[in-house]
Amino acid sequence: MIGGKLEKALNKQLNMELFSAYLYVAMAAFFEHKGLNGFANWMRIQAREEMDHATKFYTYIHDVGGRVELEAIAKPPVDFKSPLAVFEDALAHEQTVTKSIYKLMDLALAESHHATSTFLQWFVTEQVEEEKVADEIVKRLQLVDSSPEGLFMIDREMALRQYTPAADSAAAT
Ligand code: FEO
Repeated sequence: MIGGKLEKALNKQLNMELFSAYLYVAMAAFFEHKGLNGFANWMRIQAREEMDHATKFYTYIHDVGGRVELEAIAKPPVDFKSPLAVFEDALAHEQTVTKSIYKLMDLALAESHHATSTFLQWFVTEQVEEEKVADEIVKRLQLVDSSPEGLFMIDREMALRQYTPAADSAAAT
């Protein structure tokens, strides 16, 4: 059974994962609008992965006898200064998510809720990848420095990204 502070914090993280999906859909829409369909593809897949993350929390909360309580999802931005600014925002967002997962892990450890710390371990590892990938794209966009040729070259590569469902974590299905 779960309850109290930990249940609340897991629900808060569920909301953050749903917001992440919403944010990446907004970023996809921005790229679509700019005719950068490869970048839009990348962001749409990113949004699907965030929905998978949210589903993991949803399932886990039920698995441990908790209650899912959905809150409002904040409105994401519509416009961004440049493709580079989008990925700088994405990186900053992922860093915020990492901090939030760490705080949640601290709470699970403080409450000796071992099932939750095991469940969260998947997210700790995932966040390393999330930050790494966003950082790599930021660096590549800095290198091309808004040259249209460079941008279209990266756009073509981004079009190749395919959705792969997230592997199950130990405590969630
Ligand atoms: Fe669900 Fe990108 O963190």
